[in-house]
Amino acid sequence: MISPATIDEIKNRMDIVDVVGDFVNLKKSGSSYKALSPFTSEKTPSFYVVPSKGIFKCFSSGKGGDAITFVMEIDGLSYLEAIKYLAGKYGIEIEEEEQTDEALEAQNRRESLYIILNFASEFFQDLLFNHQEGKSIGYTYFVERGFSDDTIKAFHLGYSLNVWDHFYQKAREKGFQEELIEEAGLIIRKEERFYDRFRGRVIFPIHNITGKVIAFGARILTSDKKQPKYINSPETELYQKSKVLYGLFQAKQAIRQADNCFLVEGYTDVISMHQVGVQNVVSSSGTALTEEQVKLIKRYTQNVTVLFDGDAAGIRASLRGIDMLLEGGLNVKAVTLPDGEDPDSYSKSLGTTAFQHFVEEQGQDFIRFKAAMLMDDTQHDPVKKAGVIKEIVNSIVKIGDPVKRAVYIKECSDLLEISETVLIVEQNKLLLERNKDKKTQPKQVQSQDVATELLPIEDEQVESLDIGNIIAVQEKESIRVLINYGKESIQNHEFNDEYLVNYFLNEAEEIQFTHSVYNKILEIIKSKAREGIIVDAKYLLDHGDQEVKDVVVELSANKYEISEFWQSKYKIHVPHETEHLKDVTYTNILRLKFRIIQYMIEQENEKLKNISDQDIDDVLDEINDLKKMEMQIAEILGNVIVK
Ligand code: UTP
Ligand code: MN
Repeated sequence: MISPATIDEIKNRMDIVDVVGDFVNLKKSGSSYKALSPFTSEKTPSFYVVPSKGIFKCFSSGKGGDAITFVMEIDGLSYLEAIKYLAGKYGIEIEEEEQTDEALEAQNRRESLYIILNFASEFFQDLLFNHQEGKSIGYTYFVERGFSDDTIKAFHLGYSLNVWDHFYQKAREKGFQEELIEEAGLIIRKEERFYDRFRGRVIFPIHNITGKVIAFGARILTSDKKQPKYINSPETELYQKSKVLYGLFQAKQAIRQADNCFLVEGYTDVISMHQVGVQNVVSSSGTALTEEQVKLIKRYTQNVTVLFDGDAAGIRASLRGIDMLLEGGLNVKAVTLPDGEDPDSYSKSLGTTAFQHFVEEQGQDFIRFKAAMLMDDTQHDPVKKAGVIKEIVNSIVKIGDPVKRAVYIKECSDLLEISETVLIVEQNKLLLERNKDKKTQPKQVQSQDVATELLPIEDEQVESLDIGNIIAVQEKESIRVLINYGKESIQNHEFNDEYLVNYFLNEAEEIQFTHSVYNKILEIIKSKAREGIIVDAKYLLDHGDQEVKDVVVELSANKYEISEFWQSKYKIHVPHETEHLKDVTYTNILRLKFRIIQYMIEQENEKLKNISDQDIDDVLDEINDLKKMEMQIAEILGNVIVK
């Protein structure tokens, strides 16, 4: 462990301008520095360094923090690695704190594993380029596959001789212990004898994100049907398949630049795409994606494009795995290759320019893609169609953001030619099931969760993700609750009963609506509340102008009748919103505040574009404060922050 004293010294010595300046071309601008963001490929600078505060802020990617954070972000380093980097830069000697014997031993063992795996990787590469068998069999195979020398080197490809224990003997000669070689997964013990795991195969080393070799995949070169085509390292202390993406080390910079990550099936797809200039590509080693792998991608981008091989059965098999990406809050696109092609073969047949063009042009929103594809299967068979609807809604509920979900519900209603209401009911059912499954949560929280996520059944949904529209929907929803349930009494924080209207106005006293007609109604509700009158739909129909009346008519229809219908017919419990009135009101207020804060952040970001140098600190402070509020509310709402 690095001692706290060392960390303190590093923090005292590090200079944000100096640290960032090693990676980014900074231009002085008043008391701050400006540059093009190193995290995105923007055209106008929105990356700032504020030396007086020791921080950087990148408005195009949303990243920000101190010099340690910067080094972690720019290089994908862990905290410890960043500390070591900075210590090296400032010539600070790292003082290690006493470690327990076990911790020390574990660390030594890990380091030994890295060393032997690195030795093995270099050994296999050397055989590929310099050994007679390696050259004539391994290297020739790669050349026939169309891999260039540069590509072979970038992925450190190698070859293992077709001999029982060639590697084992060489490793022993080098002084590596048997136990260690075995633990690294390189040899297999059989009746007190050891033989090599990889024999007569081309070798694909698997790297972790810092570029260290942690495992190998190895492909057979003969057509021996008794042997598996690929053999992979077993799981070891360093290699957990579920936490690794093949090619990420080679791809991470390109993923950041392109702000997108292509996802393919295997080693050869990654390598071939890399060779035709699509370098932002990784693969999950043939298994279904895991949460850890999704998190890895999210360190570099929010956008994933999945390439599907052109056979329908294959696509169907991999559809489920993609839900994991949606659950992780990523934006997912899909590209389908022509029948019988995989990324490896198709990149070769199209060549660099045409293939690049193809993957850029063909990206299609994943939910839309899935809906269209499954619809094709149903051939108007109503039973199949019911299954498809379930399947699609199942993907939609994986999306954390209720606003995005609403947009998809609307789109799928058009695509599947089915009413939005049916989709929403299906969605609510799944959301309820999901919340029931969260057994570890206390009961009250559960009901609030449900209320937060359930979408009111409305005929009309958000047109697009434009923030103005979103605010309008939220304002309208608040008005709907106020005029329909304003007279209901609910318990306030002091456990006293009060009218819902008053509860709302107290919680949201500073709020003004941005849309004139909703604000007009809110003002009427406010001013009448002061006189002790609770405004309901009837009052507004008697006293409001035409514009107000139109809104009220639209909103006072009972949209929940439908849920009672489903409840009695299909025994599906869709809670009536009066059961959760307080939660509904509370979340409404929070959502409103949340969207308004996002709107304000947008405004401040606009200001930054043409601002004088003296004012920049103020705006940055303002944005920071807003971001903090945004985070707090998002946490309560359980929202993923939508940019
Ligand atoms: P392929 O079967 O296409 O492998 O699987 P390939 O090496 O490209 O073989 P050919 O030349 O087309 O016949 C594609 C990817 O699936 C993974 C590998 O990562 C491979 O690159 N795979 C395939 C395995 O992990 N194990 C296997 O047994 C087969
Ligand atoms: Mn292939």
